[in-house]
Amino acid sequence: MTPNTAVPNITLNNGVEIPQLGFGVFQVPPEETQRIVEDALEAGYRHIDTAAAYRNEAAVGAAIAATGIPREGIFITTKLRNGEQGMAREAFRNSCRELGVDYVDLYLIHWPVPSRNLFPEAWKAMETLHADGEIRAIGVSNFLADHLDTLLQSADVVPAVNQFELHPTFQQSELAAKSRSLGIAVEAYSPLGQGADLNAEPVATAAEKYGVSPAQVVLAWHLSHGTIVIPKSANSARMRDNLAAAGVVLTTEEISGITALESGARIGSDPAVAAHSQM
Ligand code: A2P
Repeated sequence: MTPNTAVPNITLNNGVEIPQLGFGVFQVPPEETQRIVEDALEAGYRHIDTAAAYRNEAAVGAAIAATGIPREGIFITTKLRNGEQGMAREAFRNSCRELGVDYVDLYLIHWPVPSRNLFPEAWKAMETLHADGEIRAIGVSNFLADHLDTLLQSADVVPAVNQFELHPTFQQSELAAKSRSLGIAVEAYSPLGQGADLNAEPVATAAEKYGVSPAQVVLAWHLSHGTIVIPKSANSARMRDNLAAAGVVLTTEEISGITALESGARIGSDPAVAAHSQM
């Protein structure tokens, strides 16, 4: 099993390095997750993104244990479930137990759930776990600009990452710019628009020109912006295809053509209204 050396690392605001191209397991059924994550690790992925709410942390942990890759060779992200924001420490410990690890590389508040206003309290608990060395970097997910502002009023640690829906037809470019201006790395979920952005004309044209796949073109577009990406595929050929996007370089014109695909159409839930019961 050869680690993929072509994937660059991004240095987070606390000096921790994260592989820019990782493997996401959102919507991967628990019973298939171990096989799929083993395939991903075999393909060369060294960054796995899961969440307590996905109910597949145990299978991710089983895959990691089965491959025999040393713990420090794999970057693991998991997330605090919405209903557990008032008990973040216990929820974190439970995730560690499920994953079979004694530390996590990146722990994210999954959604702000502004109606409950518990995320500042959850953040304080995460700051303590981070200070104690149980989490290497802490961050947020699905935080809009006003959620970041609220968090920063009481935070001692600036989030290392904001992970949100970002793909050519839904870029949230103001949120990305604000996050970056605060030193918060941007991480894209649904980076392929769940497959829907792959047929767009500028994507297909660039794919044909370079003899690569549309998914590689979309991922190369993300990488060119410094964005961290976590595409998912249940198919090992497509996993390998996606990982090889790290070697694709687009021209400025091709990047602009893909950026012009913005349509404002969100696929997932709106963080302003997403309820704690949803995840
Ligand atoms: P599959 O699992 O059958 O490969 P996103 O990461 O944006 O959520 O997109 C995931 C979706 O895109 C899945 O439906 C996945 O299907 C599909 N997908 C992932 N990689 C590729 C690829 N290289 N080419 C085509 N479709 C892909």
